[in-house]
Amino acid sequence: MKEFAGKHLVLGLSGGVACYKSAELCRLLIKAGASGQIVMTEAAEQFITPVTMQALSGRTVYGSQWDTREPNNMPHINLSREADAILIAPCSADFAARLAQGRSDELLSLLCLARPAERVPLLLAPAMNREMWVHPATQRNFAQVAQDGATVLGVGTGEQACGETGDGRMLEPAELMEELSAFFAPKQLVGQHLLVTAGPTFEAIDPVRGITNLSSGKMGFAIARAAREAGAEVTLVAGPVHLPTPRGVRRINVQSAEQMLMAVEQSVDAATVFVATAAVADWRPALASEQKIKKDGSGEVPALAFVENPDILARVAQSPRARAGQLFCVGFAAESHDLLAHATAKRLRKQVPLLVGNIGPATFGQDDNALLLIDAEGHRELPHASKRVLAQQLVADIASRLRAAPAAPRRVGAQVLV
Ligand code: C5P
Repeated sequence: MKEFAGKHLVLGLSGGVACYKSAELCRLLIKAGASGQIVMTEAAEQFITPVTMQALSGRTVYGSQWDTREPNNMPHINLSREADAILIAPCSADFAARLAQGRSDELLSLLCLARPAERVPLLLAPAMNREMWVHPATQRNFAQVAQDGATVLGVGTGEQACGETGDGRMLEPAELMEELSAFFAPKQLVGQHLLVTAGPTFEAIDPVRGITNLSSGKMGFAIARAAREAGAEVTLVAGPVHLPTPRGVRRINVQSAEQMLMAVEQSVDAATVFVATAAVADWRPALASEQKIKKDGSGEVPALAFVENPDILARVAQSPRARAGQLFCVGFAAESHDLLAHATAKRLRKQVPLLVGNIGPATFGQDDNALLLIDAEGHRELPHASKRVLAQQLVADIASRLRAAPAAPRRVGAQVLV
């Protein structure tokens, strides 16, 4: 099932160079299963033609309140009432000023004013030159529109079409899609703070070599994103991976297991849920050489001695807050076979209320996975799906556990831990 299946959006374009990004945004929305009605101001049509937007949305574009296509000649009423949300992207400084004043002398602002505000949310993606963005009049207008019930999305920073650099760029289409997902996601984790570890660790042998594993971090990043979308505050401690940080998530980059432990210890007191998805190296070289170990031609191979890494999850799970039920701990197990037996044993060994099993070789680096959720009562399968969908399902599962036992002593095995 596509993420936006069944959702109908009015995508409004006001005048700005960022209109070119709205074409891509429209394409992404349609690809994600949404239907989109494009409404453009006269200024927007200076930047991109309705032909492009019609082709991408599969619907004729509206630009005038005098459009006779609607039998009752009221496009502002008809279009606004059938929408699940109205997204103005780009929202120019002028358009924000018009919204702030409740102006209604062209279709797009008229439609925003006429929408049933309690059931049709209005989202704005500002786009303008950096001086225009920081101008008190613009800030005042966006603050007013937000106070009137609209959701003002952030702006990007960087090079602008005018040649200047700073704040005010419209968010990229993929970022806007993330914002929309977050907006529509059920807010099941409001008030919770998730601490998530993700990715592999890298254990140095010398300054240019080390030991790592094939974990891509995708599952942990998807969980961080889904938790954030569900309304939680999220801290993500990430091993060395090349993945973009989910919007709104605080990320701490680490390399080794010891660094990961340190980052976790610094953040765990504020957390209410700890999800350990990281594939932490079990051992590290006992002594990392300060200089590159050289091959001297003698044929002699260096002997590497290892020491065991700290078990981050086991430590956190044994902390007083976890034992008192104030910190809900979720572990992961990547196994190659006998998933249920190994993961069940691991749950008891690590003393966590919930352990999520998956088949390591089948999931590392992939975009999809299948999960097995194991708790004191038994187990439940989350069948094969994208990591995005599985992360949403896992977050929903964690949320229902938190609702069922808010900050209560937790049951790991047969006995209750207090
Ligand atoms: O023992 P094993 O590595 O299979 O356990 C996997 C679970 O324990 C995962 O949740 C992983 O993030 C966590 N773990 C950890 N620190 C370690 C080893 C594993 O937090 N040193």
